[in-house]
This record gives sequence, structure tokens and C-alpha cells, in this order.
Amino acid sequence: VFVLAATGSAIGLGNIWRFPYVAGENGGGAFVLVYLAFVASVGVPIMIAEVMLGRRGRRSPVNAILALAREEGLNPAWWWLGGLTVLAGFLVLSFYSVVAGWTFAYVIETASGTFEGATLEAVKREWNAIVSSPAAMLLWHTIFMTMTIVVVSRGVRDGLERAVRWLMPALFVLLLVLVGYAMGNGLFEEAVLYLFRPNFADLTALGVLTALGQAFFTLSLATGALMIYGSYLPASASIPRSALIVACADTAVALLAGLAIFPLVFAYGLEPQQRESLAFNTLTIAFGHMPGGQFFGTLFFVLLGVAAWTSAISMLEPATAWIIEHHHVSRSRAALAAGAAAWLLGIGSALSFNAWSGYRLWDKTFFGIVEFISTNIMLPLGGLLIAVFAGWRMSRRSSADELDIGDGALYGLWRLLVRIVAPVAVLLIFMDVLGVVPLTL
Ligand code: PHE
Repeated sequence: VFVLAATGSAIGLGNIWRFPYVAGENGGGAFVLVYLAFVASVGVPIMIAEVMLGRRGRRSPVNAILALAREEGLNPAWWWLGGLTVLAGFLVLSFYSVVAGWTFAYVIETASGTFEGATLEAVKREWNAIVSSPAAMLLWHTIFMTMTIVVVSRGVRDGLERAVRWLMPALFVLLLVLVGYAMGNGLFEEAVLYLFRPNFADLTALGVLTALGQAFFTLSLATGALMIYGSYLPASASIPRSALIVACADTAVALLAGLAIFPLVFAYGLEPQQRESLAFNTLTIAFGHMPGGQFFGTLFFVLLGVAAWTSAISMLEPATAWIIEHHHVSRSRAALAAGAAAWLLGIGSALSFNAWSGYRLWDKTFFGIVEFISTNIMLPLGGLLIAVFAGWRMSRRSSADELDIGDGALYGLWRLLVRIVAPVAVLLIFMDVLGVVPLTL
């Protein structure tokens, strides 16, 4: 059950929409390699640590950390770490809901045949038409956030598992169909080389930070989501095993999305750097030309929307649980309060593609800023602190007891990764971006 819920959280827009776009923006191969290395050596150990803290703390992230700090005789100010993760999840939710709204718009457009036989110009025009309407963007954002609030206010457990159980296999099969289509109709070899032949000259310091942020984002780390799901996890379940399964499934979906999208990017002469529109534009041309594309395309965007939904639920849950514990209000009120606040903030992101696209700071729109601060700064920072807490501050006895994998090589490996590798990687990357230690160009 935990594996299903955590997979539902992990697999979403991050895999299918965000991974291809950040990979394309950062030159492909070297970025992908670094990203995979981060997933394995930083993401998985922190995932294990975060779930472990959640299960041992048995409360919402803030109180779980506080309870653990007390139990271990540490400074209670560690509760801030819990607060940081809840806040990060909240910020991610605000813009995630806007992107999820696009999938709904694409369901309607695909179902009504807009993309049948569409050319590159036509899909680009359609993308612009969709994102340039403030009213439509706000409407979809509102609908998606409402759907998320409704599920969270009822308590996340029922329904979620069932949804994930049929959704994930269906999405997986459709991605395989798309990869098959891309093999037959796209420049597959070129895409494989682009994605898997590293050219480190393409990778900037910012690219490395983006790869790190993407590793956290795609695994739902440091947003409280896994801490809260961990608090529902029975003591008998193996945390390392669950984390490994979730990370593998998540990575497989991202790589499949890349293999479905990039062959078509090259075949159609699109630019890999078109950011937010990349996945939508390539996939809609493909659906517009493949047999049964109208049906498959509609189904695909429905499934993507549901995958986004199961992710968004896990982002809203920590803030909701926190409000319930602190203000002693009902679950539905807490979910409504947290969801409404994320919705309000999300309006800025919805308008970033139209009415407010001219307002920029460091050349980023409101959407870009919220995305950058949450994904590339708060998630790695939260992850670093989780690693420090679980690896250095919590006693060895507690973590060994909670992980229950004995005191052998496996435990030793986790401890090494979480104590040394993960924190050092995050710190070095931060310093590299700030120019303190020049590791990359
Ligand atoms: N991992 C989700 C995705 O890849 C996004 C997410 C981030 C979910 C943070 C929960 C918390 O789409």
C-alpha cells in the first residue's frame, strides 16, 4: 500500500513533462547521466531517511521532527526542518496545479480532434492559444485544485491505491506505445545518443543544480509527502526495499518519456530547448498522426492528469495534517485552507504565461521563480538537512532499529550515503552555482 501511494506521488508531471524539458534545456546526455547518479546516490538514501523519519515520528512532518528531536535529546528547533518541507510542498503544489490544468485542456482538444493531422505550426499555435488565455488557465487551475482538496479532505487512503493500481500500468503501456511510435517514425538513434551520450561541455553549474533539483522533485523528496506517507507505513514493511521499487519505477517512466519525446523532437525539427511546451507539442503531433491517435491521445492526457492528481494529493497532505494538529480543526477545513492558499499563490503562475508574462525578475516569470526557489533551492536544502538529521543527529541505534536491515553492508552503505555522499554533493553543488568552488563551467 505504501509502495502504491508513494509511486502515485512520485510518478507525475515530473517524469513526463518536466524531465524531458529540463533534459532538453540542459543539453541531454551529461545532464541525464548526472541526474541518474543523483537519483541513485542522493535521492534514494534521502528517500529512505525521509520515510524512516515519518514512520518513527508518526505525525505530520513538523511534529514528527519535533517528536524525534525530543526523543533523541536534540535541539527542538529542528522542527524548522519539518516546516521547510511542508512549505516546499506547498510551493510546488501552487504551480503544479497550473501545469496539471494544461493536461485537462489537452484532453478536451485531443478528444475534439484538434490535433488530427496537425503540423508543427498548428500544435505550437494551439499551445499558445491554451496558455495565453488567463480565464482558461485559471479555470483549469481551479478545477484541479478543487479535485485535490476534495480527495485530501476525505482522507487520502481510500481510492488512492485503487487509482494507482490501474493507472500506473495503463500509463506505462501507453508510454511503450509512444516509444514504439517514436522508433518507427522518429529519429530514434539520434535521440538515444542525445540522451545517453554525455558531453560534459554542455553541462553548466546551473545544469547540475537543475539535475539535482529534478532528482528531488521527481522522487517527491523533502516536501513532507514521503514523511507523511511513511507515518502511515506499518512497522513490518521494509523501507529500503519500498524506496528502491519506487525509485526504479519512477526512473523507468522518466526515461520512457524521454525516449518517446526526443525522437520526435529531432524528426520534426523542434528545438529541445522549448521548455514548458516541449512534451505537449511533440506528443500532440504524434497523436495527430498515429492511427487511433485521437483515442490514445485523449486517454494519455486523462491518465497524465490522474497521475498529476495523485502527486498533488501527496503535496497537500502534509500541510493539511499540520493544520489539523496545530489548530484542531476538521480535516476538510484544513484541506480547504491549505488548498485555497496554494490556489491563490498559483494564480501568479497561471498568469505567468499570459497577462503577467512581462513581469520578470532575473529573466524569470512568477512561475519560473516559484519553480526555481522550491525545486532547486528548497528541496535540495531540505534533503541536506534530512540527511544530516537522520545520519548525524539521530542515534545509530534508532535508525538501525527503524530500518531493520541489520547492521551489515546494506546499512553501512545507506549510512555512508546519507552521512557523507548526499550532504557533500548538495553542498558542493550549491557552492559551485554560487561560484565559491568552480567545478563546472
Ligand atoms: N514527484 C512528483 C512528480 O514527479 C511531483 C511531486 C513533488 C510530488 C513533490 C510530491 C511532492 O510529478
